[in-house]
Amino acid sequence: EKIVTIVGARPQFIKVAPVSRALRQSFREVIVNTGQHYDFNMAGQFFDELEIPRPDYDLEVGSHSHGKQTGLMLQAIEEVLLQEKPDGVIVYGDTNSTLAGALAASKLHIPLFHVEAGLRSYNKAMPEEINRVLTDHVSDLLFAPTETAVKNLERESIADPVRLCGDVMYDAVVYNREIAGRRYGPERYGVERKAYYLCTIHRAENTDRPERLGAIIDSLIRLEAPVLLPLHPRTQKVLRELGRLDVLARHDHIRLIEPVSYMEMLALETEAAAIVTDSGGVQKEAYFARVPCFTLRDETEWMETVEAGWNKLIDPLRMDLKSEIERLEIAAYQDRLYGDGRASEKIVGAIQAYYHSKVSECWF
Ligand code: UD1
Ligand code: UDP
Repeated sequence: EKIVTIVGARPQFIKVAPVSRALRQSFREVIVNTGQHYDFNMAGQFFDELEIPRPDYDLEVGSHSHGKQTGLMLQAIEEVLLQEKPDGVIVYGDTNSTLAGALAASKLHIPLFHVEAGLRSYNKAMPEEINRVLTDHVSDLLFAPTETAVKNLERESIADPVRLCGDVMYDAVVYNREIAGRRYGPERYGVERKAYYLCTIHRAENTDRPERLGAIIDSLIRLEAPVLLPLHPRTQKVLRELGRLDVLARHDHIRLIEPVSYMEMLALETEAAAIVTDSGGVQKEAYFARVPCFTLRDETEWMETVEAGWNKLIDPLRMDLKSEIERLEIAAYQDRLYGDGRASEKIVGAIQAYYHSKVSECWF
């Protein structure tokens, strides 16, 4: 069978790496890159470093408003699907690339497989929540990373099969963390192991609300240890517009850097004293690295990390990050919250079983 894989944004390049490796053992895969992310450090470098096969199609859609970006992708993906006539389509996560792929496939009646199904923040102001709810409801096979995700889907009475497989981002960590540790360390930024904070910010709810972004920046300035801040282009742009980029750069302990590669990120996460982030993926990677995480959001889809005592939600307008970090008490680590590192194999096995059962249906 032929499977079309649709990716386009940074976290999707990381998720596709282990799944593609497993998928290509038994399927023909055609990779479509929507081009939602396009800077080398947001896209190209991941293909090189993670040895992801080159995309068969580069749609080069780029940055636009939500409607235009999703619409352009939908149109271009439909053309690819009509040409390739695949037996199935895989989409990942909750970006606009995910939704465009899901709509294109489902309207052409091509079986749709959603990796990272069932996550919910129950906050419809998040574009990702719209993308994931709609994608789940048109998918034919849903791969849930956690029990919580399975329960969320049960509550929505989704009739199509849900498979609990574990998290493919954990597969990626298991596969890469040793190599990352050998290759990179924090020394190149002039900071010492376990004596710095690592911070990422990019979520719309933070970047698009100046008073909230301002409070985050002020709380980073108040920290005493060095803060490594690989800046997402979205955040870089907003901070420049607000005139805060120069102000931030003037503080010696704030190290503004370009987005780093996945391997470098894994190494920086492992050696950090604590991680401050609004990223979904980074919250889990902090947990895998056994590093405490402070999440700059009002809710999280990855509640297990909070319940386990390793992640704390921070409202930057009401809470003081510095005292929250100081107050932290490390909890006992619980293994296997996100699977056993073999989610990709389980996903591929379930896709195989899906086609097998379809054939049986035709025979009897
Ligand atoms: C997107 C996803 C978000 C995900 C994030 C991962 C949606 C709705 N959001 O958010 O769920 O967590 O990716 O990083 O799909 N830009 C560049 N160069 C690039 C890419 C982006 O300069 O290579 C800038 C552009 O100004 C662009 C802005 O970043 O307008 C936002 O990019 P976009 O892909 O629309 O959303 P993200 O915030 O990256
Ligand atoms: N990441 C990276 N370089 C960076 C910042 C993040 O490689 O400079 C990786 C990170 O390790 C994780 C993924 O990008 O695997 C998370 O993506 P992002 O935060 O962009 O999106 P989200 O997970 O919030 O959707």
